[in-house]
Amino acid sequence: MTPLAMRVRGVAGTLIEQIPAGDARALAVPDPSSGLRAVLGDPGVPLVGHSLGFLQDSLELCRRMHARFGPLFWVNAFGTRVVMVLGPEGLGTVYANRERAFSSQEGWDYFIGPFFRRGVMLMDFDEHRQHRRILQQAFTRPRLVGYLDAMNPAIERAVSAWPEMDGFALYPAVKQMTLDIATEVFVGGQLGPEADRLNAAFINTVVGGQAFVRADIPGGKWHRGLASRRRLAGYFAAQIPAKRARPGDDLFSVLCHAETEEGERFDDADVVNHMIFTMMAAHDTSTITASMMAYYLARHPEWQERVRAEGAAVGRAMIGFDDLEALPVLDRVFRETLRINAPVGVIARQAIADTEIDGHHIPAGTRLLLGVYPTHRMEPWWSDPDVFDPDRFLPERAEDKRHPYAWAPFGGNVHKCIGLHFGGMEVKAIIHQLLGRFELSVPPGYEPPIDYGTGPYPADGLPLTLRRR
Ligand code: HEM
Repeated sequence: MTPLAMRVRGVAGTLIEQIPAGDARALAVPDPSSGLRAVLGDPGVPLVGHSLGFLQDSLELCRRMHARFGPLFWVNAFGTRVVMVLGPEGLGTVYANRERAFSSQEGWDYFIGPFFRRGVMLMDFDEHRQHRRILQQAFTRPRLVGYLDAMNPAIERAVSAWPEMDGFALYPAVKQMTLDIATEVFVGGQLGPEADRLNAAFINTVVGGQAFVRADIPGGKWHRGLASRRRLAGYFAAQIPAKRARPGDDLFSVLCHAETEEGERFDDADVVNHMIFTMMAAHDTSTITASMMAYYLARHPEWQERVRAEGAAVGRAMIGFDDLEALPVLDRVFRETLRINAPVGVIARQAIADTEIDGHHIPAGTRLLLGVYPTHRMEPWWSDPDVFDPDRFLPERAEDKRHPYAWAPFGGNVHKCIGLHFGGMEVKAIIHQLLGRFELSVPPGYEPPIDYGTGPYPADGLPLTLRRR
């Protein structure tokens, strides 16, 4: 095990070992004249299939299955049968979608549809292009400059209130901070007492989409998620007339006024759906990235010093949009964090026609999970994949450029993350302020246990030592 290999909690190894290897079976037998191979896999244990393996250590599961079956294999998990696609070649084929055989809408709908239906990621083809063009108006450079200026004071308020202590639970603290940033930048500031209720509704909606028991049973996460989604939708819908009445700089106002050159605009239902989806897409992703980046810097003091020194040279407690280019070391640490710990660990698609991936037969109706996280962490595609080494992104090494999708934390092609610059500047602004105020460290040998939601996240709250500078 390399120093940064993720530790799995005690019980996981035992449970995974108990899953019988099973016989390799074909997903579907291809027509012999096609020259295509069948995707092989195994169902795992009755009822739950490989769900436990995914939830406890998806990386270990993928490495094991890859050794048996290669970069494509099928498993039963999460109440369905899915084909996992590993490796940049396969990912690239699905992203490129040349034959229009893969649907994002159908793929994601099974997992999160009831909570995030009509979000832009759950649309396909012409409709997706039309909505994305309008949404793009909210992510232009002048808009990003404005969002960063609005989020810096919110970051300052949070970080300046953090105590100097051992064992500070960084992950929940960053989660609260990114919620507050979202309130400021997405919804438009002063919600007052409503903020807590809205935050809770938002969290429950996201958690609903990740529920293990996927049924509307009163008292369950799914049920609470659906009720929370209705509450959020009601809140946003009620605010729309006021937001439409005058322009503003928050994302909500921008979506109410966004218009393409051809005059296309969102109707009220679109604004509500895109608000809920975009807030979800931004939240866990930025939280996980900022938290894990702080952890790697705590664990690697030499990198912490380099990032701090580079930031100090900028000469401002809060970075502005134009400062980002002057922070290449910070950028390499950001990229390496996204490589080791891709927050969107898998991307869902469904085949809507018979097709092929990497010479394998994929029948219409097949559910696919594109393994971004395992692809970033496996030997065929990266050397020493468990080692934290930000310099692999230096131009002279450029390990990420070996294949267009070797490093793909933001996905690819038409559904590529629309918030990648937003997320990047938010995470970097947080780390810049954090390092300006605190020295970060962890006890020798500490590694966070990893759980899996949308992707890998620290299961123990990520206790760090914070010392004021
Ligand atoms: C480090 C942070 C982030 C990561 C790693 C990330 C990752 C991703 C990935 C992998 C996808 C593609 C999903 C697919 O192809 O099905 C995606 C899509 C998306 N992301 Fe992000 N994201 C991040 C931050 C954000 C932020 C901050 C926002 C908004 C402010 C955002 C908004 C979106 C939207 C709207 C989509 C759907 C785009 C489409 O389908 O056209 N993301 N993101």
